[in-house]
Amino acid sequence: MQNPTTKSGKAPSADPLARFKEVQREGWAHFAPLEAITTPPAAELVRRASPRAGQRVLDVACGTGVVAVTAARLGARVTGLDLTPELLERARENAQIAGVEIEWHQGDVEQLPFADGTYDMVLSQFGHIFAPRPDVAIAEMLRVLKPGGTIAFSSWPPELCIGRLFALIGRYLPPPPPGVVPPHLWGDPNVVRERLGNAVKDLRFDRATMRVPALSLQHNRTAMEKTAGPILKLVESLTATDPARLETYRREFEATIADYFEDNVLRQDYLLTRATKT
Ligand SMILES: C[S@@+](CC[C@H](N)C(=O)[O-])C[C@H]1O[C@@H](n2cnc3c(N)ncnc32)[C@H](O)[C@@H]1O
Repeated sequence: MQNPTTKSGKAPSADPLARFKEVQREGWAHFAPLEAITTPPAAELVRRASPRAGQRVLDVACGTGVVAVTAARLGARVTGLDLTPELLERARENAQIAGVEIEWHQGDVEQLPFADGTYDMVLSQFGHIFAPRPDVAIAEMLRVLKPGGTIAFSSWPPELCIGRLFALIGRYLPPPPPGVVPPHLWGDPNVVRERLGNAVKDLRFDRATMRVPALSLQHNRTAMEKTAGPILKLVESLTATDPARLETYRREFEATIADYFEDNVLRQDYLLTRATKT
C-alpha cells in the first residue's frame, strides 16, 4: 500500500519504505473495534500453537493484543509488538482487564528489538503479512526464535474473500515502492513454503473461518472503511482526489464480498501455518 497523505503533522519521510510504514501506521490507528471479530481466530491460532505455561511467546503485529492476551491467559510469558501506538494503548487495557502481565513494544517486524533465540514461540495473526518486505520480516521472526521453537501465523488466501479484496485495493492504489509485495501472497502455501525454506521443519497448513456479522453488504463496507488500515487510507485518498472512482471501487467491493455473504454473516476463510525452527 502506498498513499499520498500523512496526518502526523511531521514532514513525511523521504525514504519510500519508511513513508510506506508511516502511512500504514496511520491507517491501522482505528482498528480497535475489529478486535471483536479477530478475538475468536486468536484462540484458534493459540490453540494450534499450544504454548505452555512459562514459555516465552512473541506476538508480532499484535494490534490490540488478542493473541498475546489469549496466550498469557494460558500462563505463557508474552511480549507483544506492533507498529501502531493507538492499538498498543488498547492492548495494555485488554491485558489489564484480563489480569495478565504482558511486555508491550512499539516497533517494526522488519527490525525486531530482541536478541537472537529469545522466544520459544513467535505468533502473528493477520499481522506480519503487512510488512512490505516478506523476506526481511520472516528472517527477523525466525532470528528471535530459539532452534526447536514454534512459528505460527494466520494469513489470507489470494483466491478467497480478503485476498480478493487486497487485490482489488491494490488496483486502486498507486504502485507501491519497488520490491514491496502484496500481503495476500502469505496466504498461498507454496509461497509460504518457499519463504520459510529450510529454516523450518514439520511445516503444517490448516484452514479456518472468521465469521463477520453484517447487516448488509454496505454495512460491512462502511465498517471496513472506518477501521481496516489499507481500506481507510484508500477511501481517504479517493475521496480527496477522485469521487467517481471511489464509487466504482465501492461497487466492486460490494460485488466481491457478496460471494461470501449469507445469513447476515460474511465468511472469511484463512490459512494457518505452523512450523518448527530447525
Ligand atoms: C489486521 S491488524 C491485526 C492485528 C492483530 N494481530 C489482530 O489479529 O487483531 C494488522 C496489524 O499489523 C500491524 N503492522 C502493520 N505493519 C507492521 C510492521 N511493519 N511491524 C509491526 N506491526 C505492523 C498494524 O499496526 C496492525 O496492528
